[in-house]
Amino acid sequence: MLHNTLARIDSAVEGPALERLFELVCIPSISADPAYADDCRKAAEYCAGQLNEIGFEASVRKTIGHPMVVGHYKGAGEGRPHILFYGHYDVQPVDPLELWDNPPFEPKVAGEGGKAKILGRGSSDDKGQFMTFFEAARALMEETGALPVNVTILLEGEEESASPSMVPFLKENAEELKADIAFVCDTGMWDADTPAIATRLRGLLYEELFVEGPSHDLHSGHYGSAARNPIHVLAKLLADLRDDDGRIQIPGFYDGVKELTAEEKAEWESLGFDEKAFMDEIGLSLPAGEKGYSALEQTWARPTAEVNGIIGGYTGEGGKTVIPSKASAKISFRLVGEQDPDKIREAFYAFVRERIPADCKVAFKSHGGEGAITQPSDSDWVKTSLKALSEEWGKEAKLTAMGGSIPIVAQFKRILGLDTVLVGFALDDDRIHSPNEKYNLKSFHGGARSWARILCALGK
Ligand code: BES
Ligand code: MN
Ligand code: MN
Repeated sequence: MLHNTLARIDSAVEGPALERLFELVCIPSISADPAYADDCRKAAEYCAGQLNEIGFEASVRKTIGHPMVVGHYKGAGEGRPHILFYGHYDVQPVDPLELWDNPPFEPKVAGEGGKAKILGRGSSDDKGQFMTFFEAARALMEETGALPVNVTILLEGEEESASPSMVPFLKENAEELKADIAFVCDTGMWDADTPAIATRLRGLLYEELFVEGPSHDLHSGHYGSAARNPIHVLAKLLADLRDDDGRIQIPGFYDGVKELTAEEKAEWESLGFDEKAFMDEIGLSLPAGEKGYSALEQTWARPTAEVNGIIGGYTGEGGKTVIPSKASAKISFRLVGEQDPDKIREAFYAFVRERIPADCKVAFKSHGGEGAITQPSDSDWVKTSLKALSEEWGKEAKLTAMGGSIPIVAQFKRILGLDTVLVGFALDDDRIHSPNEKYNLKSFHGGARSWARILCALGK
């Protein structure tokens, strides 16, 4: 049965399976930009349609923001495990558009054989990823008329915008979303040949900071020096966030950050991380975070304060001599251990207020926060999945951590009482959130095959 299911996946992958993914990638479901709200709904409808076709009972569910998709499959019968599978159909904005070699919403395959890549925004994060599960479910249904386990699928359309609707939705639908375990397909492999299950993710606090100086934009000569320049104020504030060793200067920021134990350190060292290759691939040579920590530690186990964007003053062609009235910045804090996003938000606000000079006003907008998560690494769910992954890829699957954040994992635990197994097939060089995002055809293909194996193994 598994053998034939895998063969079905093999024969569909470069035909109808890829077409289904292309159709989804064509829909510009950018959650951050209200101009694309209709497209978010279209993507949700497309996914629900796919699920109904496969044999789920699926519907698009209204929220205060972009809709959710919920699908149920109960045909495995009582006594079989019940999994909750999660993915997100929304994607990141595409700017700067001119840096894309191929238009972001006109997916195609480039390259051949093992090097073939699916191009497009969302090809990896997260449309290509969750479609691996859809394709596995489809092949199993076609081959056997059933799935080996009961499955609830939850897709959201706001993951890339901090999921404002998710907490109320989980609370209101907790009964319907009950399951034994959650699976999330939104993380990466160890490398192109080695599958992985992530057991730690960093948390995230996202803040916007607005500085206002003079009542209106000014001639930078006529008023220069006498008028407080909000860009200078902002730049100094941002620079003050870190010292020269990369340590974050907000008082209390490190409360709850734990050093790695000697065993954890040894375990990570034994993974054989190629720091040089990791840095090379992004055109850099030296990890720039806290002194004394490797790049792997900096991204997996240490917190950050990163400026994601600065807005202010004249940025058009040529010069314009002006002192702007306003400047602002978008800042993300990645959190680890027990760092509390609410406490850090308050500490950050106090840190800023202390540094704001006379005649300047400051305002904040919080986009929310969620702490870091650690998931069990020795549960039967994880063991079964590791074994299935290892069999598929012919290499021992690794237990890893990830520097990115998936807030739903903490929410599943808090609201639904569920642990999560993080299985994904993305690669470091997928350029998620960047121009020229891609997903290797091998990730798509091997991902679908992996899910078929995992589902069969869970059903035994
Ligand atoms: N899939 C990513 C998270 C991720 C990135 C996991 C890299 C593993 C490795 C997810 O879609 C994402 O981008 N999350 C956001 C969360 C945010 C917008 C609330 C993130 O990490 O910035
Ligand atoms: Mn994602
Ligand atoms: Mn993302």
